[in-house]
Amino acid sequence: MYKILAKEELVPNIHLIKVSAPAVAQKVRPGQFVIITIDERGERIPLTVADWDREEGAITIVFMEVGTTTQRLALFNAGDSIYSLVGPLGIPTHIDKFGTVVCVGGCYGIAAIMPIARAMREAGNKVISVIEARSKYLLFWQEELERISDQLIVTTGDGSYAPQRWIPDQIRHMIDGGEKIDLLIAFGCTYMMKLSSETTKPFGIKTVVHLGSIMVDGTGMCGCCRVSVGGETKFACVDGPEFDGHQVDWDLLLSRQSGYQDEEIRSLQEWESQNWCRT
Ligand SMILES: Cc1cc2nc3c(=O)[nH]c(=O)nc-3n(C[C@H](O)[C@H](O)[C@H](O)COP(=O)(O)OP(=O)(O)OC[C@H]3O[C@@H](n4cnc5c(N)ncnc54)[C@H](O)[C@@H]3O)c2cc1C
Ligand code: FES
Repeated sequence: MYKILAKEELVPNIHLIKVSAPAVAQKVRPGQFVIITIDERGERIPLTVADWDREEGAITIVFMEVGTTTQRLALFNAGDSIYSLVGPLGIPTHIDKFGTVVCVGGCYGIAAIMPIARAMREAGNKVISVIEARSKYLLFWQEELERISDQLIVTTGDGSYAPQRWIPDQIRHMIDGGEKIDLLIAFGCTYMMKLSSETTKPFGIKTVVHLGSIMVDGTGMCGCCRVSVGGETKFACVDGPEFDGHQVDWDLLLSRQSGYQDEEIRSLQEWESQNWCRT
């Protein structure tokens, strides 16, 4: 069992949990994830490690409520325990001196991009972090990102925190403004990463994306997370989850991500009808 040491709702529907997991905290590196099962009958879901404290033996996860498991996890509190937690999984981000690295994040990606941005800065890069949310009230970790970046740009879809534009438009704005980008790393919803990749491609800007394909075992055995990159089949859990955004078959990824939508909706409806008094 993995004890939750702290729990916080950062903004509506996005939660932070700090979990005691000494073995994972010792080894985890930027860009890696864990697979958790919240109780003995729960499904396995992958979540990125957004921060860690090796001395305390604790990892921090930031997750968004999207379906049954994440809604149930949101009801856990400090002192509760998660049934199982496996990791660190996935190939860590390649950290090197590239020059100017733009780290973009939306939704839970705002937190997930943090260790990557920090490590890139420590490696001597100029780091520009760009985060987006639909509205100002959904933004979080601005101060933290400001501290570890050379520049932080915040965008909102409704303009409640200027400028009013989404990340791909912001990238285009930066390119048009003469910013020389050596590497762009994107973390967040699939559409944002797809559009960001399409924006950088004509300019030949190396673009790394973090694919959120559906995973089960997380160790390369079930094939559930398979993606097509540069015409080759890859398993996101062991070959990724980072890939060249210009080579990803986005349409295949999007269709595979929505492959279980009917079951997901039914699962949520069943759980909510049985637990209406808790929600
Ligand atoms: C490597 C990786 C890292 C991730 N890191 C984070 C993170 O740090 N924070 C965060 O909020 N989310 C993260 N996700 C996405 C997260 O795993 C899903 O939101 C979660 O599994 C949804 O489960 P659910 O039961 O709440 O929703 P469901 O209703 O079951 O599913 C909602 C949607 O989530 C996706 N999903 C469902 N099950 C899985 C699964 N087993 N594996 C992957 N995606 C699934 C599907 O696209 C689905 O349509 C990550 C995904 C991957 C692959
Ligand atoms: S999750 Fe099973 S092969 Fe990747």
